[in-house]
Amino acid sequence: MCGIVAYTGNMKCKDILINGLKRLEYRGYDSAGIAVISNGTGRNTGLTNPEIVVVKEAGKIRILEDELKNLKIDGNCGIGHTRWATHGEPNKANAHPHLDCSGNIAVIHNGIIENYAELREELKKEGHRFISETDTEVLPHLLEKYNDKDLLSAMQKLLKKIKGSGTIVAISASQPKEIIGARITSPLVIGVSKNGNFLASDIPAVLEYTKNFITINDFETVRLTGDKVEIFDREGKKVKRVPFRVNWDIVSAEKGGYEDFMLKEIFEQPYGVEETMRGRLIDGKLNFDELNLSDKQARRLRKIQIIACGTSYHAALIGKQVIERWAKIPVEVDLSSEYRYRSPLVEEDCLFIAITQSGETIDTLAAIREAKSRGAKIVAVTNVVGSTVARESDSVIYTHAGPEIGVCATKTFTAQIIVMYLIGLYFAWKKGNIGENKFKEIISELKIIPDKIQAILDREDELKKIADKTYKYTCFLFLGRVFGLPAAMEGALKLKEISYIHAEGYAAGEMKHGPIALTDEKTVVVGIMPADTVYEKILSNIQEVKARKATIFCIVTEGDKKTEKTADYVFKIPKTLEELYAILTIIPVQLYSYYIAKNLGRNVDQPRNLAKSVTVE
Ligand code: AGP
Repeated sequence: MCGIVAYTGNMKCKDILINGLKRLEYRGYDSAGIAVISNGTGRNTGLTNPEIVVVKEAGKIRILEDELKNLKIDGNCGIGHTRWATHGEPNKANAHPHLDCSGNIAVIHNGIIENYAELREELKKEGHRFISETDTEVLPHLLEKYNDKDLLSAMQKLLKKIKGSGTIVAISASQPKEIIGARITSPLVIGVSKNGNFLASDIPAVLEYTKNFITINDFETVRLTGDKVEIFDREGKKVKRVPFRVNWDIVSAEKGGYEDFMLKEIFEQPYGVEETMRGRLIDGKLNFDELNLSDKQARRLRKIQIIACGTSYHAALIGKQVIERWAKIPVEVDLSSEYRYRSPLVEEDCLFIAITQSGETIDTLAAIREAKSRGAKIVAVTNVVGSTVARESDSVIYTHAGPEIGVCATKTFTAQIIVMYLIGLYFAWKKGNIGENKFKEIISELKIIPDKIQAILDREDELKKIADKTYKYTCFLFLGRVFGLPAAMEGALKLKEISYIHAEGYAAGEMKHGPIALTDEKTVVVGIMPADTVYEKILSNIQEVKARKATIFCIVTEGDKKTEKTADYVFKIPKTLEELYAILTIIPVQLYSYYIAKNLGRNVDQPRNLAKSVTVE
């Protein structure tokens, strides 16, 4: 999830690009760059000798801005990019824009090119030279290869060749006033003004220059000049589109019109889950080369150890359940802060997995170093390319949820759960512990999980209503069994983090061994109880707490008629497979916690006493 901005018109574009990138920094901030069509002499005297000037830097936008302060770059047509790395470390060489061999074409891209490895080999054989580790760099070379007529038709040919997601924007010194853009899946908008036209991955980037925008649909291409906007459909036919007016202020625009980053990120989960499956679930097959394990090593695996903190620990608990259920490999899960001091045993044929969205959590880092000192091979599951944990691990599986700004982990959690499902499936397949039908059933169900999450998000108002009726309570118990337990624990953590109300996530069967003493008329019990094999068990636990006058809110599967006889409030989620319910049940719990905290006037993006990444012990 990177930030893209482009401009062509009668204004100088350098500052427009930098200001735009600063507005898009929440989309990615590990490296940035611009490319401007400037006159060879650097002065824009009618572009007698146009050439592309590229300036890019690793790190925050201000580093690029400082660098540009000392450079005189004149030009009215240019592109800018702020990166959230997916392939290749965050460094200057991997930063965008990327050039073709002649330096005549510059490209910026947001997304993932799934078939980049084979395209790269193909282009290398044809003499193209590559200087970065990115998937994106195949694009300028493909444009160079197809650029016989003009950049637009080259782009349309390119779209037929690549597999992947994202948006692509390109300029060429041979067409110095034109910007060519293409949308595959990720957002791209056109900004229209009398001083020129813009392309951006998000409205905030250019809102200070225009309030008139045009959206672009999947697989459409666009050609912009200073006074003309042309849009072409998938077949290359021109399409007409009328601009719409946006009356947002800049800050709310960065949140995409959502009140908080947390809410925006909750609504980005279908995208995060889809992008995390992309390139790993291909045509019903699982591709997990990133694990760097041979089939023999995979088959020989006797145990898996997972360590993590906070929300990532709850993803690890779900991982344990599906890996043991599908792959029949014993899994041990530890809190990182405990693991590092308990003199852990690191055995032969044991895979060590560290889950951390930020990749910087000190307890997890120290636990990794402890395990490595005892001979463990480390697989990191992280959302940040180039993070310390990524650099210190033997192999890395990236979640592709995009940067998470809100302190509360939401979209990175569901992306982590997807990785746990894929790891469970992968080893089940490699060890021959799963039948073809079951394997196919799970894969086809995973493919529609993003739609099922969206269906839940579309009914957020129901959860707001339940929160409006229960936010004044002072004690919350989240109950679950088996796959519902980690979701219950995560629910309690979310509520604690942002509402500051005491909450516990508990195994429902444990209630009568103590915590039931807590329940009275001041208590809300949230039951995570999808239609799985333990449904009846948890229903009777809910009836036990109901008898002690607690207020009951249950998350159940559509079609459930029984629970509403006991519960005060019920929210129904779509049906799915027993093992996959955790990723659906967590969504209503996130929204419920969010609305309770909002009703209490809390700052949900920066809750008290918490940091997005805990880098102290
Ligand atoms: C979750 O909402 C919290 N931000 C916190 O518990 C977090 O999950 C924990 O600090 C672990 O962070 P990590 O995944 O970046 O390692």
